[in-house]
Amino acid sequence: MGKGMFITFEGGDGAGKSTVINKVYEELVKKNLSCMITREPGGIDIAEQIREVILNVKNTKMDARTEALLYAAARRQHLAEKVIPALEEGKIVLCDRFLHSSLAYQGYARGLGIEEVYEINKFAIDSYMPDLVILFDIEPKLGLERINKNKGREINRLDKENMDFHDKVREGYSILMEKYNHNIVKVDASGAVDEVYLEVSKIINENIENKAI
Ligand code: TMP
Repeated sequence: MGKGMFITFEGGDGAGKSTVINKVYEELVKKNLSCMITREPGGIDIAEQIREVILNVKNTKMDARTEALLYAAARRQHLAEKVIPALEEGKIVLCDRFLHSSLAYQGYARGLGIEEVYEINKFAIDSYMPDLVILFDIEPKLGLERINKNKGREINRLDKENMDFHDKVREGYSILMEKYNHNIVKVDASGAVDEVYLEVSKIINENIENKAI
């Protein structure tokens, strides 16, 4: 395991994760803490190329297992090239999505099975697991409304899934919450960004103090 701290942010689409992560990052930088902000799928060139294949709205023929394997491949490259070196340097890594997205989206919502998707991901992530997972919980309808209002945001292949899929993603996350509750903290993401940020910031600061890095 690396010496730093690996914090991942999870939740359905339009939960406001990116905005909050950016604010947390700015706060940690101001406190002179060594940290890095990144995202999945992507974060580095090879993984951004894989992201383009997965999320391209033209790729309607993509098989669910292909999708799961591509996310795992992007995850591996991003971890090896960017996350592990940063953790080894003792950095706090803030990552927009990680393993739990695959378990909720491909494992549960696509119906591949949480355990099955976890198995293929074990190969990709080796023993690297997040120290803390912040789960942004929001009614899917509200999340998708936010996406539609945010004109600058890309509408990707997964955003275009029906409401039933997005309901299942939320259900998948709540199953994960029960299964792996030791390091997942759920936050109500339906409120104003500033309120959500304050709550997330409090949780992260408490965890940083406890880990004393
Ligand atoms: P985002 O960058 O806007 O969050 O978009 C990434 C999309 O990919 C989002 O709909 C969630 C989805 N996703 C998965 O289905 N599985 C995964 O493992 C990851 C990382 C993302």
